Amino acid sequence: MHTQFITEGTTKLEVPELEHFRTRAGDYAPSLAPVFYNPHMELCRDISVSAVQVLADELDGIRVCDPLAGVGVRGLRYAKEVQGVAKVIANDRSREASELTKRNIELNGLASLVEVRNEDANVLLWENRGRFNYVDLDPFGSPAPFVDAACAALARRGMLAITATDTAPLSGTHVKACLRRYGARPLKTEYCHELGIRILVGFVQRVAGKHGLALAPVLAHATRHYFRIYLRARRGPSFADELLAQQGYVSHCSACGRRKFIQGAAVGLPSSCECGNEFIHAGPLWLGRLIDLAFVHAVAGDLAKRNFKFGQQELVFLARCAEEADGPPTFYDMHELAKRAGASPPKIIGLIGKLRGRGYFASRTHFLGTGFRTNAPMDEIVKIFKSA
Ligand SMILES: C[S@@+](CC[C@H](N)C(=O)[O-])C[C@H]1O[C@@H](n2cnc3c(N)ncnc32)[C@H](O)[C@@H]1O
Ligand SMILES: [Zn+2]
Repeated sequence: MHTQFITEGTTKLEVPELEHFRTRAGDYAPSLAPVFYNPHMELCRDISVSAVQVLADELDGIRVCDPLAGVGVRGLRYAKEVQGVAKVIANDRSREASELTKRNIELNGLASLVEVRNEDANVLLWENRGRFNYVDLDPFGSPAPFVDAACAALARRGMLAITATDTAPLSGTHVKACLRRYGARPLKTEYCHELGIRILVGFVQRVAGKHGLALAPVLAHATRHYFRIYLRARRGPSFADELLAQQGYVSHCSACGRRKFIQGAAVGLPSSCECGNEFIHAGPLWLGRLIDLAFVHAVAGDLAKRNFKFGQQELVFLARCAEEADGPPTFYDMHELAKRAGASPPKIIGLIGKLRGRGYFASRTHFLGTGFRTNAPMDEIVKIFKSA
């Protein structure tokens, strides 16, 4: 394998030579390389480094598991760049990946902190029940096959971080695949990515419930081709029950854009909207908060002290996540509203200002450049939209 040397954060890495693995269109295709490494995920990994630092600041000597490690970049970065990590296990079932991870450990002088394993992720996680304070599931496609074992491997206090790149099923392009993998119905709407994240969180929480484990989201974002969620773990059936009570359904009217949120498991869903049109439904999914403000502020505070290549962009991104943290589920799209209202869209900042002026919550959203989040009722939104 042709390799090259790069640096992410302060970690040196030997990775497949990116020039050699391109699609016909000329884009770098990580999946064509014998060992997976995607340079476009650096922003996601930088945020993870700071997230793990926040966790390590709360606990004493955290134990980390990177069960789908590729070249080992995540596990190695946590070992090298986070203060307070006691142990990292970097695992991959590919022998080539594990060999490359070993070389990367040497390159960074991390032999005393990082252990390499070469087995199936689920076997490793089940064999290490209750051992890890932080498990990072970063698979190809769906994380669903690994969630049960990851829940088993979490210690009493810790965090589970998950990447999902199967955004098409979760966002409603492949409904059957979403039902199969996550036991939930997605919906193709302007806010389908947020629904996808909420379906993913809901699924993970239901799996965690079997383990008497409560997993509350503290940060969730949709970026490029992937979803990323961080969930704080707390053991105890009553904590799990409290979270499960915040699952439910979103009923959406595609004629007027209204939505209703219905909490509960075996609940009746409204069949028609105030405008007379039939509702369509998504769920079961998580209806609670996706972002814990204190956590995101702590992550941003840590990130600001580091010298990351994309640090400025990452801080702007986290600020936008923080801005929408206190809003209700789902957002509106200026273009969609303009089409329905038969009016051209006003400036988004002006609209948000007017909504706030009338006492409503209003913010932009990281999910969509032309999106805004508000708790104002639909009639008010349309009125203000037309007058803004
Ligand atoms: C998306 S890549 C990991 C990327 C890596 N975390 C990073 O940030 O670059 C997924 C990895 O999981 C490995 N993998 C897939 N299924 C696995 C399994 N069942 N057990 C262990 N490793 C597995 C693949 O060999 C691949 O290296
Ligand atoms: Zn309607």
